[in-house]
Amino acid sequence: MGKYYITTPIYYPSGRLHIGNAYTTVAADTVARFKRIMGYEVFFLTGTDEHGLKIQQKAQQAGKLPKEYVDEIVAGIIELWKVLNISYDKFIRTTDDYHISAVQGIFEKLYNNGDIYISEYEGWYCTPCETFWTKTQLGEKRVCPDCGRSVQHAKEESYFFKMSKYQDRLVEHIENNPDFIQPTTRRNEMISFIKSGLEDLCVSRTTFDWGIKVPFDEKHVVYVWLDALTNYITALGYPDNTDLYQKFWPANVHLVGKDIVRFHTVIWPAILMALEVPLPKQVFAHGWLLLDGGKMSKSRGNVVDPVVLANKYGVDAVRYYILREIAFGADGNFSNELMINRINSDLANDLGNLLSRTVAMVIKYFDGHISGGDEQTEFDDSLKNIALETDEISSEQIDKLLLSGALESIWKFISRTNKYIDETTPWVLAKDEKLHPRLQQVLYNLCESIRLIAAYIQPFMPQTCEEIHKQLGTDDTDRCWNNYGVYNVIKGETLFPRIDLEKELKELENLTV
Ligand code: MSP
Repeated sequence: MGKYYITTPIYYPSGRLHIGNAYTTVAADTVARFKRIMGYEVFFLTGTDEHGLKIQQKAQQAGKLPKEYVDEIVAGIIELWKVLNISYDKFIRTTDDYHISAVQGIFEKLYNNGDIYISEYEGWYCTPCETFWTKTQLGEKRVCPDCGRSVQHAKEESYFFKMSKYQDRLVEHIENNPDFIQPTTRRNEMISFIKSGLEDLCVSRTTFDWGIKVPFDEKHVVYVWLDALTNYITALGYPDNTDLYQKFWPANVHLVGKDIVRFHTVIWPAILMALEVPLPKQVFAHGWLLLDGGKMSKSRGNVVDPVVLANKYGVDAVRYYILREIAFGADGNFSNELMINRINSDLANDLGNLLSRTVAMVIKYFDGHISGGDEQTEFDDSLKNIALETDEISSEQIDKLLLSGALESIWKFISRTNKYIDETTPWVLAKDEKLHPRLQQVLYNLCESIRLIAAYIQPFMPQTCEEIHKQLGTDDTDRCWNNYGVYNVIKGETLFPRIDLEKELKELENLTV
């Protein structure tokens, strides 16, 4: 059996996560579910990145000890993943004991091998990004090149990682392995970034203490990104308990947002090279969900809390919306209005109506029981062909992590199935006894199409697949078009009730004033 190891970034527990944050994890969950369906042994890792100055300051503001502060927020994050049906195999916290001792071991190993050395740091630090910058990197405005905020001058004794030593090997690896960084635009950006020259990286701090202590020099704490990135191997038991590590490393894919590509494709592989550990097969950078073209934040009229949205519209509506809205390599737009429009058109109209019309007709004309007949026409062939083609296209797209493209192709099949109803006009066939064998065939084909649609959307929308199964009276997720089964359908809940846009927007406005 094939093995598949997929990771999300580990989240900062610095406040409630918003719908944009949920994107990475919902996307990884969908891929993990798909791979399991395809028979892979999957290890899906997520977790929280709990150290660093930013968290220490947040805790102070809240009048709490850092650990007390993160414990509460992490509980909320775990609850959020439950609400969103995230099927992770392990949740790592960087405050876990095994991770702390593994990071200390890694730091010591790098030091003993001469890849970490002590020196003095003088430069600028961006606290929100937890990143050091040199004067040249800051540019004329003297602000953080990543987030545009002001930076603080820092001068202190620090440990440095010899990143410059790995510059040529990194470029060679990226150039020789076209899939290592995807999409290609990010790959090109990283190649030119590395070629412009890598400086050694400051990997310890002495000005705050909320972090993992350098084992042989306890006034230093380990740089939070070094601590965080190693989670991908410490979660597997590296370096001491190597069963999972042997089984799943190197990771098939680190799924990350476009803002943290540099950490994952420059710093992380250089650390792995220094540790003589193989590199992950791929780092895939997705775009962002933007609010009014900018970063997600609280805004009047828009609810961005995924728990509130899932409670209002159902978890699968949230999952569908975010996966559909971010197209490959690009950013997507978030607004409650866009989301409600999509729920009404794609989910309530296209998918929900298809199921409810079909179930109603099978009940009305065949008492709820239907099996395949013999008579076939050209409509049937074209339906069957698109059904099987959709399997091929959508599977290929998921394999390439093009989730929005996969959904698009499944929705084309849903539209084609709706069109099949218009073409075959079952209500006309029902009027003439002689046409009943044909009516039976048509309704059977509709059930068969819907059964396949449920199988295709299962990794994206697991609950909806279950509900469709209930109404169709089958839980068969086989991806073949077979003409043998019997469907015993029952009328069930409306999959996605239509939402009154005007009324709903007013209600949301009241929630966010
Ligand atoms: N702690 C680091 C990651 C360390 S991984 C070794 C971090 N955490 S984060 O909480 O700030 O971000 C987590 C993920 O959420 C990142 O992949 C980031 O790109 C993603 N997103 C944050 N806002 C987003 C949107 N508005 N839209 C899509 N993804 C977004 O970075």
